[in-house]
Amino acid sequence: NYSQNLKGKTVLITAGPTYEAIDPVRYIGNHSSGKMGFSLAEEAAKRGAKVILVSGPSSQKTSNPEIALHRVTSAKEMFDEVFKHYENVDIAIASAAVADYAPKEVASEKIKKNDDTLVIELVKNPDILKTMGERKHRQFLVGFALETQNEEENAKGKLEKKNLDMIVLNSLRDEGAGFKNDTNKIHIITMHENREFALKSKDDVAKDIMNFIEEKTLK
Ligand code: PMT
Repeated sequence: NYSQNLKGKTVLITAGPTYEAIDPVRYIGNHSSGKMGFSLAEEAAKRGAKVILVSGPSSQKTSNPEIALHRVTSAKEMFDEVFKHYENVDIAIASAAVADYAPKEVASEKIKKNDDTLVIELVKNPDILKTMGERKHRQFLVGFALETQNEEENAKGKLEKKNLDMIVLNSLRDEGAGFKNDTNKIHIITMHENREFALKSKDDVAKDIMNFIEEKTLK
C-alpha cells in the first residue's frame, strides 16, 4: 500500500563505482558498493515510477520489473548510457561514484614489474552530472556530494556549478555514512534549504530523498 505518486514519471539513477582500466588485469576504482543507488531505484519503483538504473560494477541485484538495469564499467560507458535516456526523463539522480580521472593509455599487455617506480598518466573523465546540468530542460536534477572537509560549502558549490535542483551531502567524517555501509547520514541542500537527517538504513535514506523530491516536484 504505497503511494503511487510517481506513476507516469521516469526516473534515471546512476549507481556504483566506475572502473578505469590500466591494463588487461588492473583498474582504478573506488569503494562504492552501489547500495545507495539500488535503494533509490527500488524506492522510486515502489512509488510507481519507471526507473532506468545505470550502474557501474556492483554485486547489488534487482528483480523489480519496473527497473531497467544497465550495467557499465567505465565513466565513459556510464556517460554514453546515461545520455541514451536523459532527454526524456522527469527526474535524474546521480548517486554513482564516478572516477574523475582515467589512464591516458590502456596497456594492451599486463604491465611488467621492472622499475622501482611506475608512472601512470591520467586524463580527466567527462563529468556526467555537470553535462546533465548543461542539457537540463525539464528534468529535476539531483546530485550527490561525498566530502571529507568543508562539507556544506563544497556541496553548495557543486549545486551551483552543476546547475542542480538539489544535492545530497554525505560526509566520510560521519560514522556509518558513505561507502559500503548499509547506513548513511545525509543533508539535503537546495538554494534555499539545508535539511539534516539522522543516521539510518540506506533504504530509509532513499525514502527521505524520494519524499523530498516529491515535495519539490508534485504540486
Ligand atoms: O554505493 P555505496 O557504497 O552505497 O555508497 C554511496 C555513495 C557514498 C557512493 C553515494 O552516497 C555518493 O556520495 N555518491 C557520490 C560520490 C561522488 O563521487 O561524489 P562527488 O562529490 O565526487 O561527485 C559529485 C557528483 O557528481 C555526484 O553526484 C557524482 O555522481 C557526479 N559525478 C562526478 C564526477 C563525474 N565524472 N561524473 C559525475 O556524474
